[in-house]
Amino acid sequence: KRPAGAPDKALARPIRKVGVIGAGLMASQFALLFVRRLRVPVVITDLDQARVDKGVAYIHDEIIALETKKRITSDEANRLRALVTGTTDKAQFADADWVIEAVFEELGVKQDVFAEIEKFIAPDAILATNTSSLSVEQIGAKLSHPERLVGFHFFNPVAVMPLIEVVNTPQTSDVTLSTAMVVAGKLKKNAVITRDTPGFVVNRVLAKVLGEAMHAVDTGTPFDVVSEAIAPFGLPMTPFELLELVGLKVGAHVLDTHHAAFPDRFFESTNLHRLAEHGKLLDRDAKGKIKGY
Ligand code: CAA
Repeated sequence: KRPAGAPDKALARPIRKVGVIGAGLMASQFALLFVRRLRVPVVITDLDQARVDKGVAYIHDEIIALETKKRITSDEANRLRALVTGTTDKAQFADADWVIEAVFEELGVKQDVFAEIEKFIAPDAILATNTSSLSVEQIGAKLSHPERLVGFHFFNPVAVMPLIEVVNTPQTSDVTLSTAMVVAGKLKKNAVITRDTPGFVVNRVLAKVLGEAMHAVDTGTPFDVVSEAIAPFGLPMTPFELLELVGLKVGAHVLDTHHAAFPDRFFESTNLHRLAEHGKLLDRDAKGKIKGY
């Protein structure tokens, strides 16, 4: 509905508290970024206390790492730690202005998560999803106020990757979009506004590269040949290493979403699902050199 351009930043809502749904790797990484850059309370929730505790422990470890690298003082480290809380009690989200989820990449799961959290949050709270390839509009299908939902797609590793895709659905309000852009700026990320289309922009390209690389190996091209042939593109990692970084299951879901949307343009991820069941992708020799998958 709206061309990619700068929305009116004056419309943006102030963020005084952040709620994070999901305490997995992506959610924990961006929870840390929110607390570090916004300096506001960040509350994290997940299905059970064990998951919540794991996410909070990850953040505490990363705060120690920042302190050890002298990126923050020990006073700052203590302040950041004090701002992070974990809970299974959704009532703690009642005063959050910005609630973002990174739960399992499945449409029904995300729809239900948002429908449930809407019962607990303030009427003007903004909702964001870190989905990497599902339709943001469909994710908001069970919301009473879908205009408050926006896609907010981080990349792994969150601390390092400079980009966020802000996904604008036909329902996203100007206030929501503006708030997302201002939040991205405060996180010191470069935000681009994308259409709500499978894979947005980044994963559409990535799914092509990953899919083609895996298909080449699956159909008989030696693994080393594929890795070396991709080298001229100057990517910091081979597509296979990238798959390990983002997680095999996530990678398989991304490929599935693309294949479902464009069967003639993207490969199925059958082999990747098989590998994901084994829990590993790459075979390495004793020195850590990758031999294949
Ligand atoms: N988590 C947090 N920080 C990390 C990290 C991680 N997993 N990996 C590396 N870093 C940090 C390091 O701590 C280091 O930070 P400092 O400078 O503060 O010490 C910095 O990154 C550089 O690390 P290294 O020197 O060890 O390593 P490098 O120079 O080889 O870079 C890399 C590592 C940044 C991961 C680089 O290989 C890279 O950019 N890889 C490509 C990543 C990419 O394409 N990500 C997008 C994935 S797709 C996705 O996420 C979308 C999706 O929806 C599926």
